[in-house]
Order: sequence, then C-alpha cells, then structure tokens
Amino acid sequence: MPVKILMVCLGNICRSPLAEGILQSKLPADKFIVDSAGTGDWHVGQGPDKRSVATAKGRGIDISCQKARQLKPSDFTEFDHIYVMDASNYKDVTKLAPDAEAKAKVKLMMDEVFHGKNIDVPDPYWSEQDGFENVYDMLDQACSIVADKLIKEHS
Ligand code: 4NP
Repeated sequence: MPVKILMVCLGNICRSPLAEGILQSKLPADKFIVDSAGTGDWHVGQGPDKRSVATAKGRGIDISCQKARQLKPSDFTEFDHIYVMDASNYKDVTKLAPDAEAKAKVKLMMDEVFHGKNIDVPDPYWSEQDGFENVYDMLDQACSIVADKLIKEHS
C-alpha cells in the first residue's frame, strides 16, 4: 500500500498545489501518493492560481491539471501524513481532527526545516510573482527533507 501525504492550505490554489507538485517530484510514484486540499471551499473545482502554475512551470513542474478541493473528515483516516502551511491552517485542521491519532498526523510544513520555530509559508495570494517564487523556495527546501525522511522510513 502506498504511503499517502496530504498538503493543506486555506484555498488550495496557491501554496498546497505547489507543495503537492514539489513533493510528488521528489518521491517514487509507485510507493507514495501526494494530494492537496484547502480548509476553505471558495475555490473548489478550480485549477491552481496561474501564478503558482507559472512558478512551478519555471522550475520544471506541471501542476496545471490539479483541481481544488476542500479538506474532508475521511482525509484523517485516508492519509498517513498531513502537512499544513501556516499556524492558522494548523488551528483549523486540528480542530477538525476526530481524535488524538488524527491530530498527531498534522504537522507544520516549515517545522521540517526549522524545528519548533513556528515558521509559516506565507499566503502569496495578495503578493506579486516574487511572493510565489519565495513560497516555492521554502516548499522546495521542506519537501526535500520530507522526501528524504519518507524514503528512509519506508524503504
Ligand atoms: P492558498 O492561498 O491558501 O495558498 O491557496 C489563498 C487563496 C485564496 C484565498 C486565500 C488564500 N481566498 O481567500 O480566496
């Protein structure tokens, strides 16, 4: 059975689609499934923000086929690891976790790089393209660490 990892942000159009694409690119597809979701429902069914698509494309990753969806209760049982982008996502997601086991699956993404420092991947929605490039760099760094860890854990 493949290991399943879920990336979560607020809208599922800017940060978590990038996180999904980046982590996917670092893991063997036969052993790992990566998906993403948003805590909010405003963009359900839409593709990622065009600035996220362009940023990923510039780094050789195609996220254009993704579709936004909202986090649902079954995600807590279906996924093995749930990574959130910021403290607000952490609060929203852990509030929905049905039990302690589910809550323990939820981790702040940048904690993988800067353990215990509570660093957010900033919401780039209201920023220019450079905000998206910065988000990509942060996620790329975190996803490299996560991928190494997962591959070691599951080999
Ligand atoms: P994301 O960015 O959480 O990184 O997808 C956002 C996109 C849209 C909204 C908020 C955040 N919004 O409020 O519509």
